[in-house]
Amino acid sequence: MLKLIVKNGYVIDPSQNLEGEFDILVENGKIKKIDKNILVPEAEIIDAKGLIVCPGFIDIHVHLRDPGQTYKEDIESGSRCAVAGGFTTIVCMPNTNPPIDNTTVVNYILQKSKSVGLCRVLPTGTITKGRKGKEIADFYSLKEAGCVAFTDDGSPVMDSSVMRKALELASQLGVPIMDHCEDDKLAYGVINEGEVSALLGLSSRAPEAEEIQIARDGILAQRTGGHVHIQHVSTKLSLEIIEFFKEKGVKITCEVNPNHLLFTEREVLNSGANARVNPPLRKKEDRLALIEGVKRGIIDCFATDHAPHQTFEKELVEFAMPGIIGLQTALPSALELYRKGIISLKKLIEMFTINPARIIGVDLGTLKLGSPADITIFDPNKEWILNEETNLSKSRNTPLWGKVLKGKVIYTIKDGKMVYKD
Ligand code: DOR
Ligand code: ZN
Repeated sequence: MLKLIVKNGYVIDPSQNLEGEFDILVENGKIKKIDKNILVPEAEIIDAKGLIVCPGFIDIHVHLRDPGQTYKEDIESGSRCAVAGGFTTIVCMPNTNPPIDNTTVVNYILQKSKSVGLCRVLPTGTITKGRKGKEIADFYSLKEAGCVAFTDDGSPVMDSSVMRKALELASQLGVPIMDHCEDDKLAYGVINEGEVSALLGLSSRAPEAEEIQIARDGILAQRTGGHVHIQHVSTKLSLEIIEFFKEKGVKITCEVNPNHLLFTEREVLNSGANARVNPPLRKKEDRLALIEGVKRGIIDCFATDHAPHQTFEKELVEFAMPGIIGLQTALPSALELYRKGIISLKKLIEMFTINPARIIGVDLGTLKLGSPADITIFDPNKEWILNEETNLSKSRNTPLWGKVLKGKVIYTIKDGKMVYKD
């Protein structure tokens, strides 16, 4: 029997309201015991003194680019970034080439990620065949094959009747629709519609492109009983709309990309195309509302929207591919809120663990006895720099490149096996 003890760490598990200095005994890949001073002579020991010990992080929004665009990232490099960022489970987006609208692609991803053997990779299927927004994909067989949600991420579903049908089907299958909300008639440009787009003379994306679709899909979720999960929420009004539906008891949840908490549209003036993302970085007022939304629990979880693109695809803002990498920077970014006294570490961990687990309906994100021993161990104060040496992605598109970051994952354990060590 393989035994491991994580000793002397400060354990925080929001799923069972557990917080304090404890040892964790892992046996055969499962959580066996959490107690003070566990002694098992034959067990391997990980000394976590001075470190935070919590359930393995879950990221429900990752672009692995595999199959089809493996020059940007692949399942192996993406998995390496994930475990280095503390994520033991990631949900990958279906805008691959070919897209995940058939079971062959699902099986390929599941097999390859298993053979890489670092983190759990849970695929999503497309809402519509070919992500074309017209014909609904075969949800039933995609779910059977292992998809945990459906999304046309990267593109909105413009046709309301298609979205209604998708929510009806998803409701029958008990899975969420993950919703990239941006009406493409109002969001066709490259950055937020506002002072910076005016200053630089750049084409833009209006905030109401997002808000209108959230309102529509909240109504459709109410009508169908389906669960709509709003991806990368980015404006103040979006949050007000989400709160409205939550108060009515509609099944609506949402995530925030930590980059939207750190930066505004003005970051384009510093980082150029590396600050180009869809939905775009918004105004200060929006950024502050998002932070408030985290604090008040209107936002359910962090999700990185890790979206790798090569440097040649990020030269000019006007022509750049949208997206920012984020698996390795999510924890230090979120810790900024903790350091400013806005949220507790417990709240931060909840948003990386049990909350995303609940959204996709998996029994993970917890250290409950008998659960898979997925454990993240981090130092909230360790400083490091994301650069050539530390970056594990094939891409480097982030405004945080070369910046000093505070907070570092020291060990990541998945199913009782160490998959990352600083
Ligand atoms: O900025 C983005 N990049 N937003 C998306 O929705 C898609 C993603 C990508 O695939 O690059
Ligand atoms: Zn998206």
